[in-house]
Amino acid sequence: MATVELKNVSKSFGPVRVIESVNLTIGDGEFVVFVGASGSGKSTLLRMVAGLEQVSGGDVLIDGKDVTFAEPAERGIAMVFQSYALYPHMNVYDNIAFNLRLARFSRDEIDKRVKEAARILRLHDLLSRSPAQLSGGQRQRVAIGRAIVRNPKVFLFDEPLSNLDAALRVQMRLEIERLHRELGTTMIYVTHDQVEAMTLADRIVALDNGHIQQVGPPLELYSRPNNLFVAGFIGSPKMNLLPGHVVSAEGGVATLGLEADAGARIALPMPAKAGDKVTVGVRPEAVEIVSGPAAGDTALPAKVESVERLGNITFVYLDAGAPDVITVQVIGQTALTPGQAVQIGLRPSQLYVFDAAGKAIASAANP
Ligand SMILES: Nc1ncnc2c1ncn2[C@@H]1O[C@H](COP(=O)(O)OP(=O)(O)O)[C@@H](O)[C@H]1O
Ligand SMILES: [Mg+2]
Repeated sequence: MATVELKNVSKSFGPVRVIESVNLTIGDGEFVVFVGASGSGKSTLLRMVAGLEQVSGGDVLIDGKDVTFAEPAERGIAMVFQSYALYPHMNVYDNIAFNLRLARFSRDEIDKRVKEAARILRLHDLLSRSPAQLSGGQRQRVAIGRAIVRNPKVFLFDEPLSNLDAALRVQMRLEIERLHRELGTTMIYVTHDQVEAMTLADRIVALDNGHIQQVGPPLELYSRPNNLFVAGFIGSPKMNLLPGHVVSAEGGVATLGLEADAGARIALPMPAKAGDKVTVGVRPEAVEIVSGPAAGDTALPAKVESVERLGNITFVYLDAGAPDVITVQVIGQTALTPGQAVQIGLRPSQLYVFDAAGKAIASAANP
């Protein structure tokens, strides 16, 4: 068990800066998820914690000790990758035992650790199988087993579930959550999948282009995104974004107009002045579809483009004159059909507003 601290950590490959002065403290036993699009620098940051990549600047501390220039083996970490890289000619037991044998642990100690890992990962019935006789999920559990037997202070995961099909991913996500609960070890987990981030993390670190955009508990990023990047990245389907401007501002309250509909008006407290460009955000579950006459100031005329019926939920995609299609999530089912003219109502209590630089300046959850 250990804390992990990154102090002004940066990384360049040649002239290209890929990590920009990252400061982050991860608590003992915490489960932290680095999330961001492909190429945002997640793996590079994790590999600098592991010691597989040298920092270009800054310090890395594990358990209070400066390991910036320590070898990976000296850091007390164990890493699990997307590719399981099991030895095909060895059975499960020997795969898990391999590193312990290299490190010359006693036969009894190896046996004890392998059996304990097998118990935790529910692999006991598979110990004599070869990797070829295992499913993808079981192979990944063996790879995690190899990490567990080393008793690391910190577990590092780099997209460990990306090779698995959707159903297995859900199952393994629950396994990893259970693993963390059982071991209580500090874990850093990299993924591009915001659902994995939301479901696993104590705290999410949202990365874009080598910059930390926001750090916080999942629902804080969901309810109070700092900026357009986090607002668009966290939440599925994505938050709807509508270009707008400040019509008037007085006493800390601004009245906004939307480019999509000259008549719409939204009044919210925010620091802004008349003429400012803004982006209004509203999540798919916070848009109402109203048939019939306009439902107040924030109702926009729209046309149904397509309808996706999942049974328990229906996604309705509408053209409301905005650059992007508007997504609405309806609980249960609806009789709406493509081509139908409707009104959409944006719930004023669930709107977000971002300034021209993308910074959040108003949100229902953070007035
Ligand atoms: N060894 C390397 N040499 C040069 N550029 C690299 C190297 N490794 C990663 N990069 C670049 O650094 C950026 C971040 O990569 P990476 O950390 O792998 O992103 P992620 O894991 O978020 O997809 C990317 O632009 C990638 O092309
Ligand atoms: Mg990566």
